[in-house]
Amino acid sequence: MHCIARRWPSGRSVSAPHEHGRSGQRSLVMSESSGGSRATNHEGNSMRAAMYDRYGSANVLTIVERPEPAMQDLMVEVVASSVNPKDTFVRKGRFKHQAGARFPKGTGYDFAGIVIDSRVDDMPVGTPVYGMLRGWEGRAAADLVSCRRQEAAPAPRSLPLVDSAAMPLAGLTALQALRDNASLKPGQSVLINGASGGVGTYAIQIAKALGAEVTSVSSSASQEHCRRLGADHTHDYGRGRLPPGQRYDAVFDVFGNLSRREVSAVLKRTGRHITTVPSAANMAATALTRFLPQRTSLVVVRSNHDDLRELSRFVQDGVLVPEVQRRYPLTEVAAAHAHVESKHTRGKVLLVN
Ligand SMILES: NC(=O)c1ccc[n+]([C@@H]2O[C@H](COP(=O)([O-])OP(=O)(O)OC[C@H]3O[C@@H](n4cnc5c(N)ncnc54)[C@H](OP(=O)(O)O)[C@@H]3O)[C@@H](O)[C@H]2O)c1
Repeated sequence: MHCIARRWPSGRSVSAPHEHGRSGQRSLVMSESSGGSRATNHEGNSMRAAMYDRYGSANVLTIVERPEPAMQDLMVEVVASSVNPKDTFVRKGRFKHQAGARFPKGTGYDFAGIVIDSRVDDMPVGTPVYGMLRGWEGRAAADLVSCRRQEAAPAPRSLPLVDSAAMPLAGLTALQALRDNASLKPGQSVLINGASGGVGTYAIQIAKALGAEVTSVSSSASQEHCRRLGADHTHDYGRGRLPPGQRYDAVFDVFGNLSRREVSAVLKRTGRHITTVPSAANMAATALTRFLPQRTSLVVVRSNHDDLRELSRFVQDGVLVPEVQRRYPLTEVAAAHAHVESKHTRGKVLLVN
């Protein structure tokens, strides 16, 4: 089935039947060609997008007017996107090999919005959706994003749609690390290092939902935050990177600064060490421990429809709530990137359209 709701010029303010509030009018954009700001009603089928024309600091980001994207399975009118460390790393050129040398480049992998054009049965026009783009081509920080069905799912009805944009990449990472890499079971214990950030706040809640006993590692300032999210025990890394005298079934090193040796000292004999960082040391530990009882593995987040639905179910069941530290307007994309680069984000940072 291919349903299309043409939105411009007649249908721009999508009047889709949904219960989520939208973010209101946007009319002032920086024109790429003129370099100045001007009003647009998008009647020329253009849209705003956060982009950059060279690798560099957050200041390379600007809002420009671009043609609307080519249709894939879904065309989504974005209400919000979120900023992940991946966005900042790609923008700085840390993944040049994967992202390539073609400019300008967009930014943003996570989005939430309303379907305005659809080629799939289960997310027709008007559906509030959220999702994460695959690959290295960020483009969700824009008025429209086009994506594959696998990259999106209906957004949880119990959340403001804007806040759903805080979940995909970080929430999927936490879910896949704890469920798939750690095979976490009810009654097991898990230590989460970097527990107060984007991935960590979901990891605490998902580990609790899976029935585990959770120890968080964060700064002392974030301990109360971790406790409020469900951590049974909290540890301040200022008092030593890991709590002394304990052994865990799993260590999820979200921040990625723990060595295999440090982790090994606090893991049970058959414990699992999961890291987010593909450093040479972590890759070597992954290869060398593959057939050992105490294994290291790297989580590599995969965007997929079923896992997004799983996150939605956690939200609907009331066991998962996204933590949003700050919502920036899309026009302040550079400030939002700089916030995430501080490495002390508590929860997530959003860009609201
Ligand atoms: N492999 C993958 O598929 C994958 C997927 C997602 C993320 N990642 C990676 O995972 C890492 C974390 O992502 P994120 O989104 O959670 O980042 P984030 O939101 O920027 O994490 C910020 C958190 O890091 C904590 N932190 C800072 N210094 C720390 C330290 N010395 N020890 C422990 N925690 C510390 C901060 O806690 P305090 O403020 O309390 O200090 C803050 O809450 C990034 O490197 C990201 O690229 C990888």
